[in-house]
Amino acid sequence: MAGENVLVLNYDAEASTYDRTRGGDARAVSAAAAIGALLPRQVTLVADLACGTGIVTARVAAPRVIGIDLSHGMARLAAARLPGRVARGDVTAVPLADGSVDAVVMIWLLHLLDHAASARALAEAARVLRPGGTLLTTVDKDEAYYVTPSDVAELIVPVRARHVPPPSDAHDRVTGLATALDLSPAGRTTFPGDGQGHSPRGWAELILTRRIPWTKRADPGTLAALTGRLHALPGQDRPRADPVYRLVSFTKG
Ligand SMILES: C[S@@+](CC[C@H](N)C(=O)[O-])C[C@H]1O[C@@H](n2cnc3c(N)ncnc32)[C@H](O)[C@@H]1O
Repeated sequence: MAGENVLVLNYDAEASTYDRTRGGDARAVSAAAAIGALLPRQVTLVADLACGTGIVTARVAAPRVIGIDLSHGMARLAAARLPGRVARGDVTAVPLADGSVDAVVMIWLLHLLDHAASARALAEAARVLRPGGTLLTTVDKDEAYYVTPSDVAELIVPVRARHVPPPSDAHDRVTGLATALDLSPAGRTTFPGDGQGHSPRGWAELILTRRIPWTKRADPGTLAALTGRLHALPGQDRPRADPVYRLVSFTKG
């Protein structure tokens, strides 16, 4: 079940169910369309860093698209989609030459990394981009479920806010780091997590079983009170709005 950064960080174990549980083809089509909206026309070589299973990578409309991922299980599935165009590698030490790509894409990556690693990943993106190249990254990923107002969001947001540390992919933070790397803000768009909205009952289960990172830091009484209020909402099994993911672009000076 997809959630707000559900705590399943072993991507080797996750690989076989990843596509099905993260919105599948519909999410990938929407993500690729958002990438296409921000990619300049003259782009030839695109590197998708943390490409996962390649479900988005394979849909990026550019003459040459390569993928890199740290997880063997994810990279193996991506290689099946993009034969000869996927390598294992770490986004904090990208196995590409300086100034060698026209665009770097990072979808749903920075929020997973700590502050040091996410800063390093951005520096690596800047290093491998040619002058005038484009960086695309998602930001504020874990806010996506609360962008659209709903009765569920109204209950969860204030409790969550007390338990969430500053995210690595906060838009302001990413913009500050990028600017210091001579990457200038160039554009922004959103894409939906099609079919990923949860019902009140679904949210209550995710929260009670502590499958969302911030719930690990909350005391049982707080979680019980919140899930009690979620269980009291009407439409217990009606999914609320799909999450809305933010994608931003930067141009290298
Ligand atoms: C949430 S998935 C996103 C995958 C893909 N971008 C997508 O949108 O479907 C995060 C991916 O980041 C990869 N990853 C995490 N840390 C990484 C690192 N340091 N270097 C390379 N890949 C990493 C994981 O293996 C996983 O495939």
